[in-house]
Amino acid sequence: MKIPVLAAAVASTALSFAVQAADPVKIGFLVKQAEEPWFQDEWRHAEQAAKDKGFTLVKIGVPNGEKMMAAIDNLAAQKAQGFVICAPDVKLGAAVERQAKRQNLKVMSVDDRLVNGAGKPIASIPHMGISGYEIGRQVGQGLAEEMKARGWNPAEVGALRVAYDQLPTAKERTQGAVDALKEAGFPVANIVDAPQTRTDTESAFNAANIALTKQARFKRWVAFGLNDEAVLGAVRAAEGRGLRADSMIGIGIGGSKTALNEFAKPVATGFYGTVQISPKRHGYETAAMVYQWITANQAPAPVTLTKGQLMTRKNQAELTKAGG
Ligand code: GLA
Repeated sequence: MKIPVLAAAVASTALSFAVQAADPVKIGFLVKQAEEPWFQDEWRHAEQAAKDKGFTLVKIGVPNGEKMMAAIDNLAAQKAQGFVICAPDVKLGAAVERQAKRQNLKVMSVDDRLVNGAGKPIASIPHMGISGYEIGRQVGQGLAEEMKARGWNPAEVGALRVAYDQLPTAKERTQGAVDALKEAGFPVANIVDAPQTRTDTESAFNAANIALTKQARFKRWVAFGLNDEAVLGAVRAAEGRGLRADSMIGIGIGGSKTALNEFAKPVATGFYGTVQISPKRHGYETAAMVYQWITANQAPAPVTLTKGQLMTRKNQAELTKAGG
């Protein structure tokens, strides 16, 4: 009696898989800051995954919680089966999970890991992001090495931390840089915080301006932050005070257009370098993972952390060619 029941169960499972496979696959890719080159790059690579695997990608910018919730509903209405998201605020994590469940959509986060009401990462949402602390350390080490190469006396140098501490990955990144600077013998008292209100260049520029004005005693600076935009803002603010490439060493995180445009300028600016990370892994692989989840019921690994490497004017051509 048992055998026919089992056979029937297997047959019906096979049938449901076949039906599912025949449905066209549609996957959303929701990002908090669509105008930022990093996210443009992620989208470009996700499009490539869509082409290679044969699914439809729906790209939506979600600058705030309201737009984000509307985008999730919109995906469901379009009969999408899942989405990748970098949310405008990681504290919206529980809302994202609830809405995805209600709409029967698979969800994976990218870049910024979603947290619950207690501020703890939501383990049930697979995630791909950078190893923020390690990459921050690479930034700090790069700054320390360049200071040394220039023969700067650390006691006379200010270190500008463009801060966005409400975002865990931002805090981890700048903490890594601070720790590496300290280990290299940089005086902690010379580290100056410049809190930004958003994560774009303009906001970083405003934050840096205030900090540089308050700490005018330093004639030489290093700068670091969450991303290339944070450091570019600091570099532009320093220029406004007459501090150029010979008195500012900024190292960002990213390696997209924001950094490449600086390196392409005929005269070097205070934007000395960036830790290049991989929009290809974050864009292509996350979209492909969600595709695999939808079509073969294979969930992505709970957490995937990606690496980076220091890119400056010296090696940028080589690293850009390698494709990140
Ligand atoms: C965060 C930042 C982006 C980018 C990504 C990379 O989302 O806001 O600028 O650095 O992380 O993971």
